[in-house]
Amino acid sequence: MPDETLHLPLIHRVLEREKDTPGALLPILHAVQESLGYVPEVALPEIAHALNLSLAEVRGVVSFYHDFHTTPPARHTLRLCRAESCQSMGAEGLAAQLREQLELDDHGTSADGRISLRPVYCLGACACSPALELDGQLHARLTPERVRALVDGCLEDGSC
Ligand code: FES
Repeated sequence: MPDETLHLPLIHRVLEREKDTPGALLPILHAVQESLGYVPEVALPEIAHALNLSLAEVRGVVSFYHDFHTTPPARHTLRLCRAESCQSMGAEGLAAQLREQLELDDHGTSADGRISLRPVYCLGACACSPALELDGQLHARLTPERVRALVDGCLEDGSC
């Protein structure tokens, strides 16, 4: 795990810029995540102090919204579409397969930082459901075999 205190100068710059904005908590959390790829633990007391909130309030908001991540981003991100068209074409079965293959929950990141799973709600490929996006690349008309091969290929390539 990297030394998160290295992120403090950036966090302080965000706080200085945003703290007087009405409803500043969400914009601050988004700005930190946009810059760092996640909201590090070290940011929470700084944000709480700057906004005169309790640490529990800040932590509660971070954990309530699945969009906020509390661990550094993985090297690979797999976003499986869970919206209606993909659901009707077997996305829930693929989600279960991914959870089992990767031993992660739907929003999980592997302990070695190699891959994150994220649900997404429509990738604009409904006519070719079910679909997923792996590192920004769309894959559609998925089958369990194709999903397994995609994940195996991703985990086996030298960049993982
Ligand atoms: S519902 Fe999955 S791509 Fe649109």
